[in-house]
Amino acid sequence: MAKWKKGLAAGLLALSALALAAAQLGAPARTQAVLGEVKLPAGPYVALTFDDGPRAATTTPLLDGLAQRGVHATFFVIGENVEGNELLLQRMEGEGHQVGLHTYHHKSLDGLNASDFYAEVDQLRETLTALLGRTDFMLRPPYGMMSPAAQARAAAPIILWSVDPEDWSDRDTGRQTAAILDNVKDGDIILLHDIYPASVDTALQVVDALMVQGYHFVTVEELFAIRGRTPEQGAVYRRLPPD
Ligand code: NI
Repeated sequence: MAKWKKGLAAGLLALSALALAAAQLGAPARTQAVLGEVKLPAGPYVALTFDDGPRAATTTPLLDGLAQRGVHATFFVIGENVEGNELLLQRMEGEGHQVGLHTYHHKSLDGLNASDFYAEVDQLRETLTALLGRTDFMLRPPYGMMSPAAQARAAAPIILWSVDPEDWSDRDTGRQTAAILDNVKDGDIILLHDIYPASVDTALQVVDALMVQGYHFVTVEELFAIRGRTPEQGAVYRRLPPD
């Protein structure tokens, strides 16, 4: 449990900043007291997540767009894409985004033997630990598939999603944006891929549209903290709705 402390503390820090920003915007009516003295906006909250990157040509403009909007997201990265993009990973961490595991070679964890599992998950964790100086990475299994044995071996909370515009199926930002906006609710985890230019446009358009509606964009770790829940290793999460 202790290994999650740093992440949650960082999340709380970000949330205090969020609360401060809300106070400056003069929105005290929409705040509520949770987590002790920290005042949080009442929400709604949503977590944008990006799989299969990083890819410099698309992830860089995405990070620029998120920074302009003061928005944090979560990136489930592939090990072989980390190679050569180390500075991009450090930028993510430094700008308050959450980095998570998506295997070394985008392999399905359904039915992998122990040594393959080590090569796909544990070696990526070691790579990211060397780069970012932390060990508490959440896991998103490729294709959302995992055997019970792999789940038990994960040594990480398993993060799936609740809103999927299937952005890999076309490059149609208008359709993808509508698919998200038509379905999103408080506590949702949205799945996109930061390897397609159209998906980057979709993400930023969704941020702009939902911020107007009062949504706050947080990392998955921050969403756990906001909901007062502790991520459990080997447990599967699709969304974190309010109680
Ligand atoms: Ni994937």
